[in-house]
Amino acid sequence: MSTVHMTVNGSRFTRDVPDATLLVHFLRDHLGLTGTHVGCDTTQCGACTIIMDGLAVKSCTVLAAAADEADVTTIEGLADGDRLHDVQAAFREHHGLQCGFCTPGMIMAAVDMIRRHGGVLDEATVRHELEGNLCRCTGYHNIVKAVLAAAATYRDRDVTAL
Ligand code: FES
Ligand code: FES
Repeated sequence: MSTVHMTVNGSRFTRDVPDATLLVHFLRDHLGLTGTHVGCDTTQCGACTIIMDGLAVKSCTVLAAAADEADVTTIEGLADGDRLHDVQAAFREHHGLQCGFCTPGMIMAAVDMIRRHGGVLDEATVRHELEGNLCRCTGYHNIVKAVLAAAATYRDRDVTAL
């Protein structure tokens, strides 16, 4: 067993978990944050993407014990009460989802992408950066539109607040 301390969405948690517990299962099964999805067992789909210590990571590839003392943001940490985060709002406005299974990972990857690029993105860059996130239904067109629209709203704003 490992004792894991973690700050998730601004709250501090401590849990004793088996050593082999993956971060995604820690979030879903031990903290009840089921917005982070599991879409594969091969580290390919990106449905499990979260932000850890400021960078997007696939939480199915990280042991919970290896994330001890990490600062994690999941999809549940983006909205402010009933007010959607701007990236979430852009996905809704531009119909960037159908079944929605990939959406939490897409949005977390988009948040990371917009932050790293300071809101300056073009279509080719968005498509390239989303290579690690698979959608089985939308053909990506509206997802890319949503990411570009969200990025545009951050061009003149402080992206560190994303
Ligand atoms: Fe993590 Fe698919 S569940 S990449
Ligand atoms: Fe992405 Fe369906 S909306 S898998």
